[in-house]
Amino acid sequence: MSKIAVIGTGYVGLTTGACFAHLGHHVVCADIDADKVERLRRGEIPILEAGLEELVRAATDADRLSFVVGAASAVGTCEFAVLCLPTPQGPDGSADLSYIEEVAREIAPLLTSEAIVVNKSTVPVGSTRLVERILGRDDVMVVSNPEFLREGSAVHDFLHPDRIVIGSDDHKAAIRVASLFEGIQAPLIVSDPASAEMIKYASNSFLAAKVSFVNAIANVCEAVGADVRDVILGMGYDKRIGFEFLKPGPGWGGSCFPKDMLALIRIAEDAGYDFGVLEAVVQANRDQYDRVAAKVARAAGGSLAGSTIAVWGLTFKARTDDTRHSPALEVIARLLSGGARVQAFDPAVRHDLEGIDVRKDAYAACEGATVLAVLTERDEFRWLDFDKVAAVMARPAIVDARNLLDPTALRRRGFSYEGVGRA
Ligand SMILES: NC(=O)c1ccc[n+]([C@@H]2O[C@H](COP(=O)([O-])OP(=O)(O)OC[C@H]3O[C@@H](n4cnc5c(N)ncnc54)[C@H](O)[C@@H]3O)[C@@H](O)[C@H]2O)c1
Repeated sequence: MSKIAVIGTGYVGLTTGACFAHLGHHVVCADIDADKVERLRRGEIPILEAGLEELVRAATDADRLSFVVGAASAVGTCEFAVLCLPTPQGPDGSADLSYIEEVAREIAPLLTSEAIVVNKSTVPVGSTRLVERILGRDDVMVVSNPEFLREGSAVHDFLHPDRIVIGSDDHKAAIRVASLFEGIQAPLIVSDPASAEMIKYASNSFLAAKVSFVNAIANVCEAVGADVRDVILGMGYDKRIGFEFLKPGPGWGGSCFPKDMLALIRIAEDAGYDFGVLEAVVQANRDQYDRVAAKVARAAGGSLAGSTIAVWGLTFKARTDDTRHSPALEVIARLLSGGARVQAFDPAVRHDLEGIDVRKDAYAACEGATVLAVLTERDEFRWLDFDKVAAVMARPAIVDARNLLDPTALRRRGFSYEGVGRA
């Protein structure tokens, strides 16, 4: 079993640390955020992620997982330093590598001889080499190991991945990194670092394109009177297509897709390739946010100005508390700029969000509203008392941007209903 330092204890880092400890490794998780580290030491999990709390508790009790402030405190005796740091969108669309560069500089003199730096952050092609240059250590290898977990099922995805990708030109280093995953059954793909880095961007871009494609099909369905749900059934059973990510909605978002699409467009541009297909996907996604906001405006009587709109769902998808680049917030921003007042409810979001009146429950969000917009696919929204919803609304109108609710039952209760790609 290995000694591992995980640097950055966010969605990816905390999951990685807890899962490696679960597999039997000794893990020190480091974060620059002292409050977060303090909470983790007390056993508080700062993010909503199924199964994570139990894993962290078991590993901490077994003395295989601990938390420290700062990368420097973690790497001194470790065989592996796993970077799980933010790579946000920079001003020109490319990935901002400053967090990675800063930590590489910080740990360079502290890494033990023969240590391996494993990069799990999503980074542009060439970043493995960049980290090698910053470290400037002949006795330390840098290996790319992109992460494919999904928020909401992060622990499950880490322990049951579809594949493990390891990018290294050094066979021995690749084998050492592969050994960290012993006990996990998954195809192992060992490539050069550039290909490993590219696999992550290519995968995310493909998935975003799939969502945008089905959104476009839904929009055509609306225009021609077809039902996108039946179209999806007919498409998804085709094994070449599959059902995953074939769900129309308000557009894709989250902490990864938006920045990763722009980063890949930029990577291609810098290499002299015009990635028109991906540019169209990004534009189609912005149009989808506009389209949902326009539906809400129509349901409000043609104009948003002065209207009160209820929103259910703020996170970028169900089963997470993450609102970063949430399509719900994109749609809400359009509603606000049209002059609407927005009252929202999301069971995973209790804090205030700028310009949004975050309410304590789903009914409170609907009080006095002329339209209810359902923007996140939370199952619990299906089972609410819609007579009560109708009673508190000024006018019972629903725009269901996730096709979550039952239009027949709602219309029977007097609601006007508009979904996505269906009558
Ligand atoms: N969130 C996902 O679903 C997901 C999935 C796959 C890959 N990724 C990629 O993984 C990377 C991390 O994503 P995330 O969502 O976990 O980010 P995050 O923002 O949740 O976590 C990053 C953590 O790094 C910490 N940090 C920042 N600077 C630091 C420093 N100098 N030393 C120590 N800690 C520091 C932050 O305080 C934060 O806790 C990104 O590149 C992302 O694109 C994310």
